[in-house]
Amino acid sequence: MTDMFDYPYPFLGKVLISKQDIENRVRTLGETITRDYKDTEQLLLLGLLRGSVVFMTDLMRHIQLPITLDFMSISSYAGASSSGFVRIDSDHKTNINGWDVILIDDIVDSGLTLFTVRKLLLDRKPKSLRLCALLDKEEKHQTDLVLDYYGFKIPDYFVVGYGLDIDEKGRNLPYIASVDLEKYNQQVNK
Ligand code: IMP
Ligand code: MG
Repeated sequence: MTDMFDYPYPFLGKVLISKQDIENRVRTLGETITRDYKDTEQLLLLGLLRGSVVFMTDLMRHIQLPITLDFMSISSYAGASSSGFVRIDSDHKTNINGWDVILIDDIVDSGLTLFTVRKLLLDRKPKSLRLCALLDKEEKHQTDLVLDYYGFKIPDYFVVGYGLDIDEKGRNLPYIASVDLEKYNQQVNK
């Protein structure tokens, strides 16, 4: 992958998923969602800020149905490893009662974030609620969460790009790359 070093992030490991592979997969997901929701009356794509933004804005252009967009911003307690408690920093504006909702995140690790947000949203009585994420670290799950739509299953690497970050860096990469944590820590501690 030659475009890797066009970006000033010295902590990148290797490219795990290329721009082209992401593009193809996102198109297929959009086509599947279009088929699955062909009879919907009100479809809401509800993204978790900020990681889902790149994925969501690409995905929606492959959904050939009327849709509405909304966002929530949440933080998980307990730093890197989720505790399952999420704080809502900014809530969605749409009253989702009666809507078909697809909740979208960038990546599932323990699954606790989506598990917890799903529970909270179900109390708001949507007509239906499905879960979608670009990436799924299946071996890390600590819940029985199953995604209705996912882009790629990945092994337990810390990854950045296509919206995903490490301390807010790396979101603009057009591919998914692993982070070389040794290089990253060296850089941070400099
Ligand atoms: P979970 O609650 O453990 O499933 O964590 C999911 C959240 O952790 C995602 O919304 C991401 O913000 C973050 N996350 C987990 N793994 C990664 C990663 O490899 N790169 C970037 N963010 C990650
Ligand atoms: Mg996130």
